Amino acid sequence: MHTAYSLETIFEPARKAAESLIAQTGIRPECAIVLGSGIEIFEDLEDTQVLPFSAIEGFPAASVKGHKGELTLGKHQGKPIAIFRGRLHRYEGHPWRNVVFPITLMHALGVKHVVMTNSAGGIHHYLTPGDLVLIRDHIYFQPTSEEERAFLYLQGGPRQLFNYKPETLAMAIDAALEAGVAIKHGTYAGLIGPTYETPAELKLFGKAGADVVGMSTVPEAMWAQALNMNVVCISCVTNVTHNIAALAQTSHEEVVEVAQRSSQNLENLLKALLKRLP
Ligand code: HPA
Repeated sequence: MHTAYSLETIFEPARKAAESLIAQTGIRPECAIVLGSGIEIFEDLEDTQVLPFSAIEGFPAASVKGHKGELTLGKHQGKPIAIFRGRLHRYEGHPWRNVVFPITLMHALGVKHVVMTNSAGGIHHYLTPGDLVLIRDHIYFQPTSEEERAFLYLQGGPRQLFNYKPETLAMAIDAALEAGVAIKHGTYAGLIGPTYETPAELKLFGKAGADVVGMSTVPEAMWAQALNMNVVCISCVTNVTHNIAALAQTSHEEVVEVAQRSSQNLENLLKALLKRLP
């Protein structure tokens, strides 16, 4: 059956949510940061207002452990920013529009820059747990939904989305240098999950050019780019997948714990990056 899609059906709820957020908080963020599993940073913002996702009009309910599910609005060095503690995933059963709702909402608020973080498995043998990886490109290994294709099409038709612009990547690298934080770079394979990959799948993804693997980020990064937002994605390597014995032991708890340990480096890097964003 053919379903008619219209951009209004996705923009209108986000616009309403944005209006009520501004009425509630008086804050119009310029930059948004999405924090992945176990990444707990930016606890020191000024003039903060914390809203559970459930208190935001139209926000779909989250369910994953290690994800707080709240939005902090506040200021960092005088600049209004939004921090999403947690995100929504396809494997939770959310349709695409829910997964990208935070992005659509930030777009409705006028946000220009989105920084996405995630915890990821390291496929490339040069990666170790705790490493930060700047995403230079991605491979979309998730089956896309009819809805996702329809909205990307309506928003600009078939076109190349330059998700990771060279000038933005350079800004992130400069920020890492200034902050004294080591950062690697690579290609992120975005899978649907919720199970971690089999050894055979990891071999395939490695051969296909993936350096890190995770279950998020790609749909949001693509939608943000389709909406002409500037996107930076950083993975925090929580486990390595080239050690099969270790792979069998990988648990969500371990992923959350390693992410928490490398959070300080990530925070220092992001603070240096925020200063550089135009
Ligand atoms: N695979 C997929 N997603 C992940 C992993 C992994 O090994 N680690 C953290 N998120």
